[in-house]
Amino acid sequence: QGKGEFAFLEVNDGSCQGNLQVMVEKDVHPLASLTHTGTSVLVEGVLKKPPAEAKQRIELKVERVIELGEVDAAAYPLPKTKITLETLRDFVHLRARTNTIGAVARIRHQLAYATHSFFDENGFLYIHTPIITTSDCEGAGEMFQVTALFSQAEKVEKELKENPAPSEADVEAAKLVVKEKGDAVAQLKAAKASKQEITAAVSVLTKAKENVLRVEERSKLKPGLPLKGDGKIAFENDFFKRQAFLTVSGQLQVETYACALSNVYTFGPTFRAENSHTSRHLAEFWMVEPEIAFANLQDDMNCAERYVQYLCKWLLKHCREDMEFMVKHVDKTAIERLELVSSTPFERISYTKAVEILEGVDKKFENKVEWGIDLASEHERRPVIVYNYPKGIKAFYMRLNDDQKTVAAMDVLVPKVGELIGGSQREERLDILKQRILDADLPLEPYEWYLDLRRFGSVKHSGFGLGFERMILFATGLENIRDVIPFPRYPGRADL
Ligand code: 4AD
Ligand code: MG
Repeated sequence: QGKGEFAFLEVNDGSCQGNLQVMVEKDVHPLASLTHTGTSVLVEGVLKKPPAEAKQRIELKVERVIELGEVDAAAYPLPKTKITLETLRDFVHLRARTNTIGAVARIRHQLAYATHSFFDENGFLYIHTPIITTSDCEGAGEMFQVTALFSQAEKVEKELKENPAPSEADVEAAKLVVKEKGDAVAQLKAAKASKQEITAAVSVLTKAKENVLRVEERSKLKPGLPLKGDGKIAFENDFFKRQAFLTVSGQLQVETYACALSNVYTFGPTFRAENSHTSRHLAEFWMVEPEIAFANLQDDMNCAERYVQYLCKWLLKHCREDMEFMVKHVDKTAIERLELVSSTPFERISYTKAVEILEGVDKKFENKVEWGIDLASEHERRPVIVYNYPKGIKAFYMRLNDDQKTVAAMDVLVPKVGELIGGSQREERLDILKQRILDADLPLEPYEWYLDLRRFGSVKHSGFGLGFERMILFATGLENIRDVIPFPRYPGRADL
C-alpha cells in the first residue's frame, strides 16, 4: 500500500474467527518477505483505533518484527481464493490454517470439554479403556489386527541372508565339541589336576554347551510367518502370544468398572475395518461411551437426551462466533437446530411403530421399509429415539425383551447424520447372555471374563455410544465426516 511505503497483514492466532489487522512500515521491516499468504509472524507494536472509515475496529502498528517464517509464494499449495473442503483433504498438514477447519477445531475442543464437564457434574468417572484389545465388542469382525509378526519375519529374513541358519551338521559339530570338552574335564579330574586347571576346563565346557543351544535355536529359524502344523499362523509367537486388535468400542471393558464403581464413561479413539466409503463413516473415530449402573433402557434414553442437549447448549454459549460462521458459510439452520434440539424433548418411538409409520408414508425410500431392516438417515426428519429393535440386527450384549424377538436397544437418530447414538440395556442374565453369544456364532472363551460380570454380583446396567464426529457434523451442518476430524482415516487413505 501507499506506493510500497507500508503493508497490511491479516494475522490470525487461532483463538477466534477474527483476524487482527497489522500495519507494517517499510522502515520497520522489508515488506516483501511479510506479505505472502501463510507467512508466520510474531510482532510487537501499538494497538490503535484505525481511521473512522476503516472497517476494522482496531489495528496493530508494528514497531518490531520478532519472528518471521517466510513463505515461497510460488510453491505454497493453498490459494488465497476459496478452496473446496474436498481439495483441502489433500493437504491435511496445511488445512488447519483455513477458517472452516479452524472453526471445527475450536468446536471439537469445546464439545470434548463439555463432555467431560457433563459427566463430571453427574458423578461419572472417566475410565481409560484399552486401545489394543483381544475382545470383539460388536462381534461384527470389523477389527484391525495388531501384530508384530510381519516385522519379526522381516528381521529374521534379513538376518538369515547375512548369516544363514546352521545346518544339522553344524548342530552335530557343536555337540561334538561339547563331548570333547567334557572328556577333557573328566581326564583332568582323573589326573587329579589343579583346581585352577579344572575350573578353566569346566568354563570352556559351559561355553560349548551354551553354543549348542544357540546353534540349535538358530537352526530352527525359517523365513516367512511362523506356522502351526495345520498351516495356520502361529499367533502364540506374536507379541501378545495371541491375536490382538484395535478396539471397535470400549464398552465391554468399561462395563467392568460400571459393575464395580457405578457410573463411568470412556472417551477415546475406536477403529473399524469396514470398507465404508460414505460421508458418515471413518476407519478411526472417537466415541463417548457412558455406562450407568442399575439403569434400564428408559434411564439410558434420558441420559442420552440430556447429554446431547447439554452439548447443544454448550456450543450456543461457548462457540457463538464459530456457529455464526457455520450459519453464514455452511448451513443456514445450524444455530436454529441447536436451539431446537436443546429445548425440545426427543420423540421416542418403538422400532415396530416406526416401521409402521414409514410403511404408511406415501414416499419411495431408497431402502425398502419392512420389519427387520435397519433405519437409514433418509428416514429421519427430526431427532427421534427408536427403541426395541429386532434382535437379529443388533449386538449380542443387548438385553432380550420378553417378546423374545426384540432387544432393549435404542438409537438416537437425527436429520442429516442418521444414527448419532447407539445404546442399550445390557443382558445381565448369565444363561441368556451365553446363549446370545452362541447364537451370534461367537466363541464363548474370549467372553468368559465378560460372563464373570454376570456370574459374580450381576448388575442391571445400560449405556450408549455417541459418535463424536457425527455430533460435530450434526452441530455444524458440514457434509462430510472427513472434515471434522483433524486426520481422517478411511479406505485407501491415512495421511501423516
Ligand atoms: O452403534 P455402535 O456400533 O455402538 C457401539 O459401538 C456400542 N458398543 C456403544 C455402546 O453402547 N457403548 O456405535 C456407536 C456410535 C454410532 O451411533 C455412530 O454415531 C458412531 O458410533 N459410529 C461411527 N462414527 C464414524 N464412523 C464409523 N465408522 C462409525 N461407526 C459407528
Ligand atoms: Mg449402531
